[in-house]
Amino acid sequence: MYLIEAEKLKKVYAEGKSKNTIAIEDFNLKVKEREFTSIVGPSGCGKSTFLLLVSGLEKATAGKLYINGQPVNGPDPLRSIVFQEYLLFPWKTVRGNVEFGLEIKRIPKKKRREISSAYIELVGLEGFENRYPHELSGGMKQRVAIARALVNKPKVILLDEPFGSLDALTREGLQTELLRIWHEAKCTVLFVTHSISEAVYLSDKVAIMSKRPGRIKELITIDLPRPRTKDMFVSSEFREYERYLKELVWEEFNDVTNEI
Ligand SMILES: Nc1ncnc2c1ncn2[C@@H]1O[C@H](COP(=O)(O)OP(=O)(O)OP(=O)(O)O)[C@@H](O)[C@H]1O
Ligand SMILES: [Mg+2]
Repeated sequence: MYLIEAEKLKKVYAEGKSKNTIAIEDFNLKVKEREFTSIVGPSGCGKSTFLLLVSGLEKATAGKLYINGQPVNGPDPLRSIVFQEYLLFPWKTVRGNVEFGLEIKRIPKKKRREISSAYIELVGLEGFENRYPHELSGGMKQRVAIARALVNKPKVILLDEPFGSLDALTREGLQTELLRIWHEAKCTVLFVTHSISEAVYLSDKVAIMSKRPGRIKELITIDLPRPRTKDMFVSSEFREYERYLKELVWEEFNDVTNEI
């Protein structure tokens, strides 16, 4: 039994009468509950498109997309998405941002407090509850975005290059945090990244996409023990995964260059 099942999925963006973009086509991917899957592929191959389809914010043109055996018919609090740009509400404090999803569900104030405090603690932001986004660093804003996404206890959390704009050290710190949060929240993660080493470090499986129209070219199981540690980065198994995945991604870039 799979939690996410995409079969022959296709998304065409219509931009006027004659200009259509086929973002993904013949896209097949199956993800088990509580798996951590990263998606890697050339720019414009349809990674964000796939996450948007899973979130329900975009609608597929053709093919099947099932979550928990049910077709996706629009957004659902059981699936939350975190974008590269933090997209926090600038006029709300850390607590206000985290509580947003609970307000929508009309959860009473006292209960909201209790839940938001637990998630603020989970992402390590206790003491910053009353700060506004402009008073936070990039890494802190991303933590708020993750807490906000987790607050409704989603089954699936979709992360679209969440650490792309962070400096290397903050990024490494948040990778480890994300693994801890994933472990504690017991959710299923789809994680888009351009960094192959990040994908290997975090994932149970790495899905390599072809250039546009994107499809899953290969799904690689990362057979490294958990908990993952930073010293694994230099192990020969880690390097071998990295080398192999880089080769697969580069093939797609070479194809693109050959066309020019
Ligand atoms: N709303 C939209 N309207 C029209 N075309 C779109 C839209 N969103 C994406 N596209 C097109 O669909 C294709 C896939 O885009 P998508 O954003 O999914 O790629 P991506 O793999 O996430 O790229 P990147 O790595 O640069 O973020 C691109 O050619 C893009 O121009
Ligand atoms: Mg994208």
